[in-house]
Amino acid sequence: MGPSRQRRCSSSERPRRHALGPHLEAQDRHALADDRENPLLAVDVNFRGRKLTVYAKCEHANLTGSIKDRMELHIVKSAYAQGTLQPGQRIVEATTGNTGISFAALGSALGHPVTIFMPDWMSEERKNLVRSYGADLVLVSKTQGGFRDAIGMAEAFAQNENVFLPKQFSNHANIDAHQATTGPEISQQPALLDLSADAFVAGVGTGGTVMGVGRYLRSENANVRVYPAEPLESPTLSTGSRNGEHCIQGISDDFVPPILNLLELDPVTAISGADAIAMARRLARVGLAVGISSGCNLLAALRVKEELDRDATVATVFANDNKKYLSTDLVREEPARPEHLTRHVEVLGFSTVWRCSIESWS
Ligand SMILES: Cc1ncc(COP(=O)(O)O)c(C=O)c1O
Repeated sequence: MGPSRQRRCSSSERPRRHALGPHLEAQDRHALADDRENPLLAVDVNFRGRKLTVYAKCEHANLTGSIKDRMELHIVKSAYAQGTLQPGQRIVEATTGNTGISFAALGSALGHPVTIFMPDWMSEERKNLVRSYGADLVLVSKTQGGFRDAIGMAEAFAQNENVFLPKQFSNHANIDAHQATTGPEISQQPALLDLSADAFVAGVGTGGTVMGVGRYLRSENANVRVYPAEPLESPTLSTGSRNGEHCIQGISDDFVPPILNLLELDPVTAISGADAIAMARRLARVGLAVGISSGCNLLAALRVKEELDRDATVATVFANDNKKYLSTDLVREEPARPEHLTRHVEVLGFSTVWRCSIESWS
């Protein structure tokens, strides 16, 4: 691991606890802090014979272990503020996993029953996590129509009941969450190393991350490049419609998400699922046990570095860790294929960067 890249925080910087709304202040059952900052990882690699560093937000440090906690908290806060979510009201969402886990946890903490519509081909860990927080899980099979139909089923369910639909794919509060939190962190944490992001790249699920971080970084510097990434086997963004199966759970659903505006972004980067798995497995060997989309994002970041300038500061996100994928191909040993980018990557180690930390990790 590299040298410590941290500093201690002053007492005024220390996180404070906040409740979400008036009726919740009395409960304060949930240790949700407004300061949601998590570490930035500086991942050192040898790529095609040259030492490079890629910066990645460590999103498994969030409450339920994924980047979706940021979006879900922001949507719930906004809905309380607008009066569209009432105490005790049921929350219903269609999701491929992480969002469902986030809403299931927050719903339990805040006294909202939760119903999650999820494709039945998602990992068993995702399904069981949703159930473990006490949410109702409705599994939707491919013969019932796939993920797009899961969204339709959630909306149909909402017509008959008094429920709150977060609508992560079309709710602009999803983008706002990343513009308000992830973006500023990706700006401020590299600044501690006297760096500023030249580019950001992220796999697209709803598009909230790439849109929100991109907008924030470009509000500071209009020249920042912002690249969406997608699975090579399912080039939904490049072609406009889904046309293949892929294994990078959490990104690339059946359609181009309504909140994603490709015209605001740089060209799409495509990474194969097998390559993403190989990269995620390699990261685990230095102690970074990340999910498949994190392997995809690291490779996409290296591609961007190659395209721009190898000294460019390129940031991405590690959306979650590997624990939701232990029943998937992520843990299966596969021979490296000649076309894999991972064959040219040696992970040398990593260090953590915090805006403020009381204890040093390294
Ligand atoms: C594992 C994983 N990676 C990446 C993403 C993409 O994030 P976004 O929905 O903000 O595009 C998701 C979204 O669910 C995810 O679950």
